[in-house]
Amino acid sequence: MTDRYAVIGNPIEQSKSPLIHTAFAQVTGQDIEYTKLLAPLGGFAQAVDAFRAAGGRGMNVTAPFKLDACAYATDLAPSAQMAGAVNAMKFDGDKVYAENFDGVGLVRDVVTNLGCSLRGRRVLILGAGGATRGALLPILAQAPAEVLIVNRTLAKAQALAELARQHQTDAVPVRGAGYADLGTQSFDLVFNATSASLSAELPPVPVSVFAQGALAYELAYGKGLTPFLKLAQQAGVTHLADGVGMLAEQAAEAFAWWRGVRPDTQGVIQQLTVPLV
Ligand code: ATR
Repeated sequence: MTDRYAVIGNPIEQSKSPLIHTAFAQVTGQDIEYTKLLAPLGGFAQAVDAFRAAGGRGMNVTAPFKLDACAYATDLAPSAQMAGAVNAMKFDGDKVYAENFDGVGLVRDVVTNLGCSLRGRRVLILGAGGATRGALLPILAQAPAEVLIVNRTLAKAQALAELARQHQTDAVPVRGAGYADLGTQSFDLVFNATSASLSAELPPVPVSVFAQGALAYELAYGKGLTPFLKLAQQAGVTHLADGVGMLAEQAAEAFAWWRGVRPDTQGVIQQLTVPLV
């Protein structure tokens, strides 16, 4: 029998998840159907209840329902607790298991697809919103030399650094700061986890943050050469990436969690890549 999955959000038309999971099902020979589910604002629980009652096995969750899904879950994984957001659910009787795979997806893309180790490297994360919250623990688990979070609103960067210090098991130094505090410090990996690229804005980051041979990684996907990536390029950075691999890898994590088989992501990444020009 075909098992049913869906991605729930509002709006939902833009979601690439059905394309990705359908491709994964094809390459792994899994018999699943994966659809888009538009839920009305305030109607998350009702829509998920109905999907489960009709035999649905699992869901991805996108904006604006990632917090609703935290409340809906019966079993919240540490990744979702730390991120304060859920992006995947698995249903088993009365149980609703909830995960957030964005952070592990990001790290897998950087380490495996881009071949860039985080171990012993200096890491800078721009922004202190939901994207950074989700990425922090998986980044720290790679044992970088240090992690600096910078944000326009300093208090948010400091709070997130403190939260990370409380949760991490390795003793990686992690600090929060403002852009003005960056001075001439440089980093081996610079992640843009702000939402600035969605409105074609540039976080106020000096070109000196990019160390020789640095990776500049834009978490947003499909925007081409964003102002952040353009800045990195102008600073001489040749290793540029956007979030297409992260998108594919978080989906592969969810697929493996649901189906017990990990799909190869290369085909999906190739299909969804928007050139960085
Ligand atoms: P997300 O869930 O995508 O992370 P969010 O939680 O709303 O979204 O967080 C957006 C992040 O982008 C915040 O860190 C925000 O900075 P502030 O906390 O100071 O608002 C950051 N951000 C948004 N636009 C920005 C810009 N033009 N320059 C720098 N940072 C920006």
